Amino acid sequence: MRHFLEITDLTIDELDEVLDLAEAPIEALGRPLEGGGVALVFEKPSNRTRHSMEMAVVQLGGHPVYTRGEEVGFDVRESVEDVARIMSGYHAMLAARVFSHQVVARLAASASVPVVNMLSDHSHPLQGLADLLTMRQSLGPLRGRTVAYVGDHNNVSRSLAEASVMLGMHVRLGCPAGYDASDGELARISTFGPGTIEQFADPATAVAGAAVVHTDTWTSMGQEAEKAERTEIFGRYQVNRALLAAAGDVHGEAYFMHCLPAYRGFEVTDDVIEGDRSLVWRQGHNRMHTARGVMAFLRGVRQ
Ligand code: CP
Ligand code: NVA
Repeated sequence: MRHFLEITDLTIDELDEVLDLAEAPIEALGRPLEGGGVALVFEKPSNRTRHSMEMAVVQLGGHPVYTRGEEVGFDVRESVEDVARIMSGYHAMLAARVFSHQVVARLAASASVPVVNMLSDHSHPLQGLADLLTMRQSLGPLRGRTVAYVGDHNNVSRSLAEASVMLGMHVRLGCPAGYDASDGELARISTFGPGTIEQFADPATAVAGAAVVHTDTWTSMGQEAEKAERTEIFGRYQVNRALLAAAGDVHGEAYFMHCLPAYRGFEVTDDVIEGDRSLVWRQGHNRMHTARGVMAFLRGVRQ
């Protein structure tokens, strides 16, 4: 039995395979969730993750059961372990969006069915899959190409960086001090594959040579109290027309990516997200295809 808590729960070959499964016709996957349920527990709000997961479950023949976190009450109403054991008897798979990564790790330790991380404070592996598929579709072969991530080194950038290094990309982070990756984190990520990872405090330096410039909100869910301070600190990390123009490689201008939801006028300007280099809508829609691909993989479907 396999879980998907991190991008690195997959080998490099399996990551490629999941992206191939995401692009396979739905009928080619069979109906690996036929007659089975998938529990979707959300401790935080969601648009893309809930809808893409629900639809992907239906496309695989299963039945999604959405539950708000407060309803289940991890460690309030009953322990995470008790929830995992009971739900494993109803469902073919469990998925959770949580504040603390420990909760998905504990779910996986006690469940007898696969567990999927739908975003934690540590990582957002479902987003990482969609990000890599979107880059593969837009750039072609990824090995040797450069992706820059500008802003807060968070759950989204961690999964993006891990997946990109696995598939041989050069990752350039542009993050302010205190919101950047530690040396240990950079060393850890660099071990996952043939790619490389470097970090720069200056955003224009970070995007040099990048085929893609990716960003995310400066204030993640749960950090709302820090919004004013973060807005001040991250101001010069905005992806605007000038920053995008400082990127690009021999193949042309850089593409723009964002996991969404986006806060226009903060981490990205309206002209960039609406511009002709923006991939955000395809990226968002790829969430459903990659969710289907990884759930099929966890149910044993292989190319
Ligand atoms: N990108 C993403 O996970 O979006 P939601 O928070 O809307 O699910
Ligand atoms: N980093 C963001 C991603 C939202 C999809 C957050 O955790 O809120």
